Amino acid sequence: MQNFNYSIPTKVFFGKDQINVLGGEIKKYGSRVLITYGGGNIKKNGIYDKVVEILKANHIEYWELGGIEPNPEIGKVREGVQICKDNNIDFVLAVGGGSTIDSAKIISVAYYYEGDPWDILTREAPIKNALPIGVVLTMAATGSEMNSGAVISNKELKQKLPIGHPFMAPKFSILDPSYTYTVPKNQTAAGVADIMSHSFESYFSPDKGAYLQDRLAESILKTCIKYGKIAIDEPENYEARANIMWAASLALNGILSYGKNTASSVHGIAQYVSAYYNTTHGVALAILTPVWMEYVLEDKTVEKFVEYGVNVWGISPDKDKFAIAQEAIDKTKEYFTSLGLPSTLGEVGIGEENLENMARDAIENKGGVIGNFKPLYYEDVLEIYRRAI
Ligand code: NZQ
Ligand code: ZN
Repeated sequence: MQNFNYSIPTKVFFGKDQINVLGGEIKKYGSRVLITYGGGNIKKNGIYDKVVEILKANHIEYWELGGIEPNPEIGKVREGVQICKDNNIDFVLAVGGGSTIDSAKIISVAYYYEGDPWDILTREAPIKNALPIGVVLTMAATGSEMNSGAVISNKELKQKLPIGHPFMAPKFSILDPSYTYTVPKNQTAAGVADIMSHSFESYFSPDKGAYLQDRLAESILKTCIKYGKIAIDEPENYEARANIMWAASLALNGILSYGKNTASSVHGIAQYVSAYYNTTHGVALAILTPVWMEYVLEDKTVEKFVEYGVNVWGISPDKDKFAIAQEAIDKTKEYFTSLGLPSTLGEVGIGEENLENMARDAIENKGGVIGNFKPLYYEDVLEIYRRAI
């Protein structure tokens, strides 16, 4: 196991009615709040009303930035920064999923920058400070509620760029599984695929000494497999929603990758599917993951797939190792299909037209190579896209 510095500073309030801590937690940091949210689902399911009621009861002034779309755009971030500057905002509260939280994170750091917030994503502008952020999570998927990363799109430039900084870690996150009851089936499925993909990104690494981290990743994968379908079939099953919600936070808060030499593979490839076609993040991952698995399966990598097949899918270890690996990949694909997720790019309306540009951008964005389990170069990424059509 490699050296690491553990630091996951976000305080998590998990469970039913934990929203009641909201007023007290915000008041530790500020009293003039920008609330960020998405397309309005929080107004339909009552979460918005509850948040506003608590803010009013605690004499906390608030401003709003609604209308943040999935694959959030830099334009909304610019708008949010302006509201913060115009009104001396001292706290940003994200009420939503990854798109809303990521926008809040970049607003909070761009507040301390005079230029265009996009410069932060391109790393032309260093992050120097941040407004404190809090989260009321409404959807289990990205883990953004407990990590310090954010991903923002720029449709004009056909870019979708990730960035991370310790300042962007939320001060607290409220995780009430019942808040995810209204997440539609397709988004629940996409969220599960995202959680599984985050686990795979840490699990499939060339490192061999992080036994514990790999067992943790397997537990998260098994949790998704056990509860993902239940959450889709029975949206108000608390146990299923709770297990998926906590799995989401643990899959990308660092706990799986500490002590390991990890580098995302499928995320780097999927990012440009969303950048070019606005495809739902988890959908792009569900399509590309099995294709990537088959592409990287070879003598050097087969043992890891055997570990995955035996420990996660319960495949007999007595079989031929390539047969185990292939069965594990098939089961992964079948599982995504059972959740109602598409399995080809063609199904989501993507053809050959942009594949070369997407592969070029994906590789450029990662400095020439994607992943380290099997390093992928331009031709590899292009071939993976082609096989996914
Ligand atoms: O827009 P609203 O009305 O909020 O509806 C959303 C949206 O349509 C809906 N939704 C969320 N909670 C709901 C609900 N509908 C009904 N009831 C609820 N309780 O779900 C839709 C998707 O929301 P979004 O926030 O886009 O989903 P998700 O959490 O999957 O976030 C995806 C974004 O996060 C980025 C992705 O790239 C993508 O842009 N990621 C962020 C990461 C991070 N910060 O660590 C890592 C991830 O790998 C990922 O890249
Ligand atoms: Zn993801």
